[in-house]
Order: sequence, then C-alpha cells, then structure tokens
Amino acid sequence: MEFKCISFNEEKGIFSIETANTLYVTQIINGKHPVHLYYGKKDGAQYPEYEANIMSFSPFSPTGGSWPNYIADTAMLEYSGYDSGDYRASSLKINNKNGDSVTWLEYKDYEILAGRREIPGIPYADADDNTETLVLICEDELTKCTVKLYYTVFPREDVISRYVTVENNGDAAVTIEKLMSLTLDLPNCNYDMISFYGNHYYERKMQRVPLHYGAQNVFSRRGASSHQFNPFIAICDKSTDEEQGGVYGFNFVWSGSFLDEVEVDQTGSTRVQIGLGEENFSWHLDAGETFASPEAVMTYTDGGLGQMARNFHKFVNGHILPPEPFDCRPVVINTWEACYFWINEAEMLRFADAAKESDIDMLVMDDGWFGERNGDHAALGDWFPNKKKFPNGLKAFVDKVKERGIKFGIWIEPEMVNEDSDLYRAHPEWCIRCKDRVPMESRWQLVLDMGNPDVRQYLKDSLTKAFDGIDIDYFKWDMNRHISQVGSTILSPERQKEANFRYMLGVYEFYQWFVDHFKGAMLENCSGGGGRYDLGMMKYSTMIWTSDNTVPQQRVQIQYSSMLGYPASTMSCHVSNHKNICEVPRELKYRAEVAMGGALGYEIHLPNVSDTVRKTIKEQIATYRKYEDLILRGEYYPVKSPFDESYSAYYYMDESADKILVSYLQWKADEEREITVKVAKAKDGRYRDEEGRVYEGKELREGLKVLSDDTECNSKMWYLEFIKE
Ligand code: DGJ
Repeated sequence: MEFKCISFNEEKGIFSIETANTLYVTQIINGKHPVHLYYGKKDGAQYPEYEANIMSFSPFSPTGGSWPNYIADTAMLEYSGYDSGDYRASSLKINNKNGDSVTWLEYKDYEILAGRREIPGIPYADADDNTETLVLICEDELTKCTVKLYYTVFPREDVISRYVTVENNGDAAVTIEKLMSLTLDLPNCNYDMISFYGNHYYERKMQRVPLHYGAQNVFSRRGASSHQFNPFIAICDKSTDEEQGGVYGFNFVWSGSFLDEVEVDQTGSTRVQIGLGEENFSWHLDAGETFASPEAVMTYTDGGLGQMARNFHKFVNGHILPPEPFDCRPVVINTWEACYFWINEAEMLRFADAAKESDIDMLVMDDGWFGERNGDHAALGDWFPNKKKFPNGLKAFVDKVKERGIKFGIWIEPEMVNEDSDLYRAHPEWCIRCKDRVPMESRWQLVLDMGNPDVRQYLKDSLTKAFDGIDIDYFKWDMNRHISQVGSTILSPERQKEANFRYMLGVYEFYQWFVDHFKGAMLENCSGGGGRYDLGMMKYSTMIWTSDNTVPQQRVQIQYSSMLGYPASTMSCHVSNHKNICEVPRELKYRAEVAMGGALGYEIHLPNVSDTVRKTIKEQIATYRKYEDLILRGEYYPVKSPFDESYSAYYYMDESADKILVSYLQWKADEEREITVKVAKAKDGRYRDEEGRVYEGKELREGLKVLSDDTECNSKMWYLEFIKE
C-alpha cells in the first residue's frame, strides 16, 4: 500500500512523517535506537545527520556494540527508558520482578497503518481519510514488555498525535511507574514556554517565560485537568508573536492528572514530554496484559501563535468535538447566578416566558432541582426532582417550558455525593477513600468512585429514571471538587495507586453511556467553570463553561488564552448581571461584546430586569446571529494579547476573507490614546462595515483606529463585508 504521509528509507533506517507544512524525521541507529532528527517546517527543511555526542560521565549500552555510536544521555531520543544511561526525565519506568525499575528499550520493528488504532476506554482523535499511523515497536529485554510508540498523522491540520502501549509478553507481572505519551527532544533551548496557570474563578492566565537549564513543568495532581494548570503548552522562538515565528504546540486528550515536563539538559537541548507522569499514576500489569496511554498531540508552525491556534482549532473541530446537535447553537438563559438553589416550577416558568420575549432559545435550569438540595450541603447523588419545588414532577414542568416554545436544559453533577444524601447513607463505601482514613470534603462533597462498576450502574439507573421520557435538549455536567486521598474500596492494596486512572476510565465509560443514552441532547461540560477545559472532555461535550468568573474584564484574558489551544465553539460565554450592572446600557453592550468571543448566553434574572434590558438582549441576539457563523466556524486571528496590553484585539474571518468580524476589548482603564487594530488578512479591494463606512483592504491592513479611555468597559466591534464589484 502507498502511504502519503509516512515513508521509510530502509537503507538509512530513516522514518519521515510529512504533513501539509511540517516534517518529522527519526532514524534507527545501530538497528536498535530510535533517535530524533528533526521536527519543523517542511519547505527547505535542513537538519544535521545523526552524530553521537560523546561526553564523559555518560554510560553506554550494556548490550555492547553501541559505543561510540550511541550515548543515550546525549542523543535526541524518540522515547526514553529509565535508569539506563539517559539521566534526563524518563518517558517510561517499569518495575520488574527483581524489584528494580531499569527500563531499556530497543527497537525491533515497525508498522505503517492506514487510519488509526482505537485506544480502548480512552477518548482519542477521530481519523479521516488522510490519517495514517506509524508504529515503532520496541522491547525491554528483561521484562519482555513490548512498547509500541504510535504516531498518528492528521496531515491537513499539521498535527501528529502520540501515544504508547505496553504489552507484557513476559511471564511475570510488572508495575508501570511512569508513563509519558509524548517525548520530543529539540536540538536547542533558545525558546520561550507558554502555559496557562490560575485558580478556581481565574483559570488559564497565560504566562510566557524563557526556558532555563533544568526542569520546568506544569501539571495537575488533582484528578482533573484543573483550573490551576492546563495540559496545553507551547514552546516558541523568542521572536514569535501572534502573526509570525516558530512555535510547537502540545496538548493532551485526557481530563485527569497530568504532567507536561520540559527539561533543558547539559548539551542545551530541550526535552518536552506530555503524559500521566508518575506522582498520580501506577499500573500493575500482569503477564499477557496490555496498557495503553492517553493520546498527546503536537503541532508545529512558523506562522506564529495565531497559526498554532488555527491548527489546533481545525484539529479540535474536525477530530475531537462531537457533531453539533442542533442546526443552530442555542442561546441559553442559565439560572445559576440569578437564583442559585432557590428555584421552583413557577419561577422557572417566569424565566421561560421572559426567555421567549427576549428571543432566547433555551432555559438551562442549574443546580437546586433535585433531592433536598436547598444549598450545597446536601443531596448530590439523589437524582430525583424535589417534590416541593416541582410538585407535578419534572416531565409536567418541562412540557410547560416546551409549550412556550423554549428548549430545556438541566444541571447534573453525577460524579459527586454529599454525606447528607440518601445515596451516601446507603453506600458510604462508594466514594473515593483510603482504608482507615476519613475522606476529606470540599464544598461539603465527596467524590464517587467512578472506577467501581456498581457506582456507574447506580448512576445509569437513577439518571434513566429521572430523565427518560422527558424532552431534555441539553445537560450541563458539573464537577465541583478535586480528588484527594485517592483509594478505592474495591481494589487490593497493591492496586490502590491505580484508583486515579481507573476513576477517569470510569468517568469516560459513563460519559459514553450518557451521550449514547441521551442521544441528540447537547452536553455543556463544567468543573467549577473551566476546571476540565481539556480535549478529553471535548470528545463528549459541545462546549465548556469557560469560567465561573463572569466579570467581563477578566473574561477578556481568560478567553484570549483559551483560544490559543481551543476553538471559540467550545467556549460557553454568558452575559451576567453582578450588581445589576446590566441596567447600564454601556455595560450591557460591553458584556455582550465580550461574550460574543464564543457561544453567547445569559446568566441574569431575566424576569426581573427592565423591559429595556430584555429589548436590548433581543437586539444583541439578532446581532449575534449575524456573526455566529464567523465566531463558531470562522478562522481566528489574534492581534493583541491582553496579557501585554490594556486591551485584547482579534478577528474572525471566513476562508475567502469576504467577511471579517473584528473585536477590540479594553479590560483595564488606560489613558486616552489611539489604538490601531491591524487586520493583516484583509485582501485588496473594498470592505463595508455595518454603518456603511467603506474601507480599502490596505487601510484595514494598516489598522482600524479606536480610542482607549479611562473606563473599564470600552469595546468596539466591526463587521466588515467585502464589496464584490
Ligand atoms: C459550579 C458551576 O461552575 C456553576 O456555573 C454552577 O453550575 C454551580 N457549580 C452549581 O452548583
């Protein structure tokens, strides 16, 4: 079979992977060692031939014959073992029957496949007709573990994914103590690293710092990808900006604990690794069993951070996200910030009426509808409607919402349980806990052991009972605490450290059941806002609640950085009404223009606001409908980062550059000065904005002008259409 992306030069032992614009090259040295030669731009690619970098104090192959051709410690490797002469961060660490964890991998063979292999139980990117996969097959001689390195190629998106399987073909059990999905050694260290840090209520703040000798990591040890760091990172040239420069982008299709490990070594080369790490992971692998890692993804471009973002957007839209459930993405009114737990049928119907009046498509009833849920102390796990709040049951209520011509969505948090719940009283052993220790609470809740099939069956039965036969269009799936003292009452002592990974496997199994069972409904993922804003969750959810922080000035930053790794269609963005600010017209406009960075929604007490506000919302939705296609499906061009300036500027454009939507969003007070927003991709010819003003393409490329001011809610949008003459 002819392969378009992957080729093997047998004579030289060189594998080459080509995407539309990039080239990845690996050479097998001495027939045993996969060494990395190059990853970067395809056109004019130049890279030196492999040469052993011999330094004293670096041990060499115990099996002989490799010296002086191969020194593990100083070669650029495709993947590294443990305690086998490479002193850099290891990719894989397997503890064997003798008790040591030495892991020494030698190349044995390869396979090239059309399409891709499934990763059982773990979400992975969907293949298309262009997808091909290279498998490098290695072995650890002592344990007889076969380690397969998978390189799945998405050529049109310039993305290559990486994951690893470990097959125990020996006769004794082993324990995998560290497992990374992706290792990439780069020949120098003259780079900056971009990552997202933050906390609940302010996630994905962007930091860009120069690499230094030694280790620099981002990670989660929280059992969720977390608010504190995000699995996305980028390694870029010093001169790279939004529009130009070399950049490697990385991400992980996984929603649990992770480690993004970057290390600069004695030779000045950089090792980048993405994977499960070792602190929150361990797996006992019996003889004959296979373990598969989650999938990591990488892209390269010399077109700057904007092109990296566009590569990832295209990849996520085409290979990760589920199909859109509706022809048109519904604009929602969510009840949380307006009502918190104090909801009931009559109040919700007032919301539905007000939604209809404002052209809002869907009512999303948030927390508070089930069990004795009158605050956050109780009822998680008791998935049946509260009788006082919904005396006629859920179906009768939802039917009334539907009679009003409004779609209906509902909030759930299936992975959690309150101590004060019927479920916990019946099954205290079902939560994540360590033997002889009292489990810690967070928001008064405990985490259910999703690795336990009985727990999943209980949830399946109770959600089926609660929702079957009711016309629910949308579920908001929340997760409001991180996991601690991880253990499982169904695992033996030597398997306790697997509880973390098994939890995620259980979550994914349950998600898959859920989306199959409630087929056609849309899923909005949430974890106290954007605490699981990751590619694993995006396999099941159309969008993610970007942050619990709805202060628009702060959202400007959160949304800007999110967009570097994830497309606008995944960002659920609501106009909220802290301090009744929506009654101030300029504020309401600002809040909507910020929220129009992604999928627009509202989170205000719609029945109680003035008629003027409801009328304005109606107008905003009409405007959004005009722009929606560009926002959710257009190409994104970041212009100015709010982490460098008092404002953020970006535009969405269609492929032919006929329609452009430009946004200027000031997030902090500034002196009055003229700001120029360059629309570099405007083509020659003329464009008209909505006020009828005509601009030459050249003028747009030189920049639109806007005045900054000393308020914190200054914004401007220009919707430009090309004039076909
Ligand atoms: C946290 C979410 O981020 C909020 O939007 C809301 O759904 C609450 N949980 C409900 O408890």
